[in-house]
Amino acid sequence: MRALQHHTYGGPDVLALGEAEEPHAGPGEVRIATRAVAVNPIDAKLRSGAFAPEGRRLRAPRIPGLDAAGVVDEVGEGVQGYAEGDRVFGAGTSVTAERSTLTAFAHLPDEVTFEQGAAVVTVAETAMRILDRLDARDGQVLVVDGASGGVGTTLVQLAMLRGLTVVGTASEAKHDLLRRLGALPTTYGPGLAQRVRELLAGQGAELVAADLAGKGSVAELIELTGDPTRVVTIADFSGETDAVVSEGSQGRAWHALGEVAALVADGRFEVIIDQVLPWTEAAAAHTAIESGHTTGKIVLTVD
Ligand SMILES: NC(=O)c1ccc[n+]([C@@H]2O[C@H](COP(=O)([O-])OP(=O)(O)OC[C@H]3O[C@@H](n4cnc5c(N)ncnc54)[C@H](OP(=O)(O)O)[C@@H]3O)[C@@H](O)[C@H]2O)c1
Repeated sequence: MRALQHHTYGGPDVLALGEAEEPHAGPGEVRIATRAVAVNPIDAKLRSGAFAPEGRRLRAPRIPGLDAAGVVDEVGEGVQGYAEGDRVFGAGTSVTAERSTLTAFAHLPDEVTFEQGAAVVTVAETAMRILDRLDARDGQVLVVDGASGGVGTTLVQLAMLRGLTVVGTASEAKHDLLRRLGALPTTYGPGLAQRVRELLAGQGAELVAADLAGKGSVAELIELTGDPTRVVTIADFSGETDAVVSEGSQGRAWHALGEVAALVADGRFEVIIDQVLPWTEAAAAHTAIESGHTTGKIVLTVD
């Protein structure tokens, strides 16, 4: 089969299509004929070697990608409720290939495209994990620093569906998008606490906050909420923050997949996609994600 791969760590240009062995569905897994794959910031860090859990020596060729959607063509031992031909989306490793295996997955409703399905895997799990960790409740205000990216546009919408008021930061060009999603927009950077207080003038609601950018806002978010346990960061791993640091290794909120798919199918959740590119343009997709300024998700189609 064909797969996107790289033989060394490096810039986006190390990525190229090549031949690879087909994977098979292990216990609890499904294999899919892959139709779409999302590109996440972690994919670029794993490609460049900035984040290299395998150690400095790359086991080549490495096939990137964690989030995919496609059609089931092999069902692993112990998997109930899935059959060949089912449309699914979910998470695996090395998914940017004609065949890939998923370890966490859900059915993709007919109303939801493969591109939309791939786009809401990691971001839905992460956003739901943040809300669960914060015990976010109706009537609270959630401040989201970095609200216009993949996790941000998802978190804004899921929080609003839980009955929270949301204040989100983005560059000014994206404030209309945040308004459309129902959030109160403001800019990011120093002075955030003051800007949020002005926006919320008169509202005495309890505040919770999420740092999705890792650009040093945590101290101001703690000042705003008055309690470090009411602030979650998914991007500040400096070791110097008092906020709750949330990583996937601490447990995943995979229940998000089925819930978000149903919301998309009902028209209650909008999947924000910046660009859909053919997988032959994976290098351009990685360059875009590395800019740190994409809006929603970047998706690759596999054909
Ligand atoms: N710990 C975990 O479990 C976990 C899970 C998923 C993701 N992450 C990490 O969380 C981060 C966000 O992920 P993502 O997928 O949402 O990334 P993304 O889609 O690339 O987010 C890009 C967004 O970040 C915003 N941004 C850029 N500079 C900013 C700043 N100084 N302050 C606030 N916002 C800023 C941009 O807004 P503008 O374009 O308006 O500037 C853009 O919309 C990444 O570092 C990712 O690796 C962690």
